[in-house]
Amino acid sequence: MNSPIPLPANVHLIDHPLVQHKLTLMRNKEASTNSFRRLLNELSSLMAYEVTRDMATQDVEIETPLETMTAKVIDGKKLVFVSILRAGNGILDGVLSVVPGARVGHIGLYRDPKTLEAVEYYFKMPKDMQERDVVVVDPMLATGNSASAAVTRLKQLKPKSIKFLCLLTCPEGLAAMHKAHPDVSIYTAAIDRELNDHGYILPGLGDAGDRIFGTQ
Ligand code: URA
Repeated sequence: MNSPIPLPANVHLIDHPLVQHKLTLMRNKEASTNSFRRLLNELSSLMAYEVTRDMATQDVEIETPLETMTAKVIDGKKLVFVSILRAGNGILDGVLSVVPGARVGHIGLYRDPKTLEAVEYYFKMPKDMQERDVVVVDPMLATGNSASAAVTRLKQLKPKSIKFLCLLTCPEGLAAMHKAHPDVSIYTAAIDRELNDHGYILPGLGDAGDRIFGTQ
């Protein structure tokens, strides 16, 4: 799973023990909808620390109770989390708990069950995207079709940067994303063994949307 094969420089495997622990609990098929959602929330906020590690800061002058100092702040409003519907919404609360000022965009793509290709049905972004850094969120980077289509569409708006944050991926998903968008950094908690014929990650955690929303 989290193989010793060297990763491309733009793939960031978040192997923090807390992240790995929570992911294991989520993979368990016995996890209830309630615990799956809570764990995803916690995991997303932990992963948000990694994905925002190189976020720009600016100096501001403040007064502590003792003296004036120059200190750093981020401009959270410049960051946009773009959720790939519907499972991406499961990541939003967690990342927004860490960067509450961030803006949120939504992109709706469904997988054509026959071709597994992504078809867009919804797209709503904040304005002035050229001034913003984007983090696309989706728990599963599987075939890479939705992720790649979402990034292609977002690039039309010319944001300053685009990163991709997921819980789980697999070699096929990474290869597809790398081929279509080698400039996009990917942040993931695990790289699983493979994709099955139905586009599911193995061993994986099942259908993330169904497990988040209790629809299976
Ligand atoms: N989407 C999911 O929800 N799970 C997978 O394993 C692959 C895609």
